[in-house]
Amino acid sequence: MCDFGHDRSHAHFGFLADHERIRALVHETCRAAEHIGDVAARVEALRPAFARLLAADGWLPDAFAQPDVKSGMGGGIGQYALYRAEDGSLCLFSLVIPTGASTPVHDHLAWGVIGVYRGRQEETIYRRLDDGQDSARARLEVARRQVVGAGEFYTLLPPIDDIHYVKTVSEEPSVSIHLLANDTACVWRHRFDPAAGTVTAFRSGYSNAPCPAERT
Ligand SMILES: [Fe+2]
Repeated sequence: MCDFGHDRSHAHFGFLADHERIRALVHETCRAAEHIGDVAARVEALRPAFARLLAADGWLPDAFAQPDVKSGMGGGIGQYALYRAEDGSLCLFSLVIPTGASTPVHDHLAWGVIGVYRGRQEETIYRRLDDGQDSARARLEVARRQVVGAGEFYTLLPPIDDIHYVKTVSEEPSVSIHLLANDTACVWRHRFDPAAGTVTAFRSGYSNAPCPAERT
């Protein structure tokens, strides 16, 4: 988790956006992962550091705050790695969702903290009603909806509330910041169609970095 990208032969890992505020959050996360064994306590401990990043200006490069017309997520959604641990244990990325666009219904499969940096998002969270034994099927119902504005964030502790989709409801594109304990865009996750009851394999990919071939 705590490789800090000093070896520039691996330019797609480490700090892809190098700013002291990004380094501060990643270092804090590494310290928490090392010293706090209980994952729920760990994500709680990360709240102040995450809030500081969301409240600060000037650390997110403009190139990491743009929609991406070639998006693997669809809808012009940009997903930009800011930090990636080469062992796949942690990433920090920005997600840019154009006005009115939505992500697919998806899961994350990792603990973390997610917050809105610019704009406003509506998050729809699903409850799973089946036992998950059929890898191609899922029975989902909406558990709740919440609007998340700039500076607000929530923690993630799968499988609790791990299935959701997000829509931008502000007049400008929303930019959210995701700190998650995997290499989120490169791991195979799940895309859900709640109406059809189907589940398909889903790997969004980053807009600014390739996924390792060995993880395909
Ligand atoms: Fe998500």
